[in-house]
Amino acid sequence: MAFTIKVNGNTHSVDVDGDTPLLWVLRDVLGMTGTKFGCGMALCGACTVHLDGSPVRSCITTIDSVGDSVVTTIEAIGATAAGAKIQKAWLDREVPQCGYCQSGQIMSASALLASNPHPTDADIDDAMSGNICRCGTYVRIREAIKQAASGQRG
Ligand code: FES
Ligand code: FES
Repeated sequence: MAFTIKVNGNTHSVDVDGDTPLLWVLRDVLGMTGTKFGCGMALCGACTVHLDGSPVRSCITTIDSVGDSVVTTIEAIGATAAGAKIQKAWLDREVPQCGYCQSGQIMSASALLASNPHPTDADIDDAMSGNICRCGTYVRIREAIKQAASGQRG
């Protein structure tokens, strides 16, 4: 069945079953592999994208539930004000280790900063708690979010 979805400012028509996860549409149909597959069960956050600016787990978001919502992925988050600040802070703080979780981390952090420009530690913990990092980069992630929120250089 054909679905029309809006991703990063572009409109795509995709022919997939309605219960196909958005993650597979992004990666396998559209070839956008920046969004990662970790658990497939909404447990790790690696697949996080934005739907109308809110973070969602694309591994459990079926294509037939997306509708007219605007999808933003790691490939375009740098074009948003919050995403640009987060990505700069990520570079300044050298956050990634293996990198596998990091696109999901950046998507959750960008959504947090866009909705809450001055998050507390509790706000950060709450917003990021669903994003798992097996390399343990949590301390640098928190520092980077604080830097992005304060506008300080690294
Ligand atoms: S792959 Fe979606 S939450 Fe883990
Ligand atoms: S940087 Fe390796 S899993 Fe997070």
